[in-house]
Amino acid sequence: MDEMNYIKPPVEIRYADELRVLAENDKGRKPENWKLSPKAVRTFILGGDIETPGGRVRIERKFYGNDALVERCIITLAGSRGLMLVGEPGTAKTMLSELLSAACCGCSTNTVQGTAGTTEDMIKYSWNYALLLSKGPCREALVPSPLLIGMEKGIFARFEEITRTPAEIQDSLISVMSDQILNIPELEEGGLVLARPGFNIIGTANTRDKGVNEMSGALKRRFNFETVEPVSDVRLEKEIILKEARDLAKSKHIDLPADTDVAELLAVTYHELREGITAEGTVVERPGAVMSTAEAVSVFYQTLSHAWYYGDGRPDPQVLTQNLVGAVCKENKDDLEKLKAYFRTAVREKALRKGGAWEGFLKTAALLK
Ligand SMILES: Nc1ncnc2c1ncn2[C@@H]1O[C@H](COP(=O)(O)OP(=O)(O)OP(=O)(O)O)[C@@H](O)[C@H]1O
Ligand SMILES: [Mg+2]
Repeated sequence: MDEMNYIKPPVEIRYADELRVLAENDKGRKPENWKLSPKAVRTFILGGDIETPGGRVRIERKFYGNDALVERCIITLAGSRGLMLVGEPGTAKTMLSELLSAACCGCSTNTVQGTAGTTEDMIKYSWNYALLLSKGPCREALVPSPLLIGMEKGIFARFEEITRTPAEIQDSLISVMSDQILNIPELEEGGLVLARPGFNIIGTANTRDKGVNEMSGALKRRFNFETVEPVSDVRLEKEIILKEARDLAKSKHIDLPADTDVAELLAVTYHELREGITAEGTVVERPGAVMSTAEAVSVFYQTLSHAWYYGDGRPDPQVLTQNLVGAVCKENKDDLEKLKAYFRTAVREKALRKGGAWEGFLKTAALLK
């Protein structure tokens, strides 16, 4: 597959070269059916140098923040319990589960998307009705779910946003996770599907949406929970914003220069509004909206795109502020007041002290209405 011809190729295609080099030079212990050892999976996700016969090769870091959490996730997946990644929106839970699946199984697309409309057949299996009518209940007429595919191939099944699914539907995972068996009573032969080594489940759930459909205690006990926190280091957040914008621009085949000052300004603004305190120690009110890194990336990219298509390539502070207002104030009108207050205190202070992009940003305060 030509990776440049798709908007967002799956991880195993996007990073095919890195995965190949890692597999060819992998000397670590490997769980049965895994493509890479836990050591190599760790290097794939957290980056590092690997020795190859042709010299040292650099593997790019993809997930920033808690390295120990990534190691724990890998160890969980090599064991018999599932992995549940929980956290605020935009903390890279989905990204991490894709990276883990691609590195361990070579496939990140074996996924059930949890919604209010997810049914038990989407989790277990359904039927191709034309074949069912002509041939009766046979294997050919069966449409396997990602869970069934995972069990048969010995790969991971990803369950995205599991708490969006009604609790009784979520619970259809329990028997599979306990017994590693899925029974298909309609099939006379081969009605018992046994999971192959390498099978496991990675779920993700959003803590903001908690309570939508809480998971049952029985299901919770079959998962190891890991909480993914927002990036706490402003410099790291700036690097993520720049890297993601570069990758997005590359995928659109545009040579968009990413302004580092504006990336820093956004990283600081998002960090301070999320934490409720500025670097100078001023307390600011936290908006009700999600102030995630993913949102900051989107505001940044939107501003750069505007400059690319309409401007001279340099981000326009007015457009930046308008995009920020759009992102922060979409849920709650009170958030606009909080953003105004942030401008009056933090932005003003930084404009006086640092100038540069902050000064341009402060001049747009009139747009906050
Ligand atoms: N710690 C991090 N390391 C690298 N990238 C990050 C990190 N945190 C956030 N990001 C950025 O945020 C983007 C959004 O991540 P993702 O969609 O995986 O979040 P999520 O936690 O699944 O959100 P949601 O709960 O809304 O589904 C990532 O693609 C990445 O650009
Ligand atoms: Mg997600």
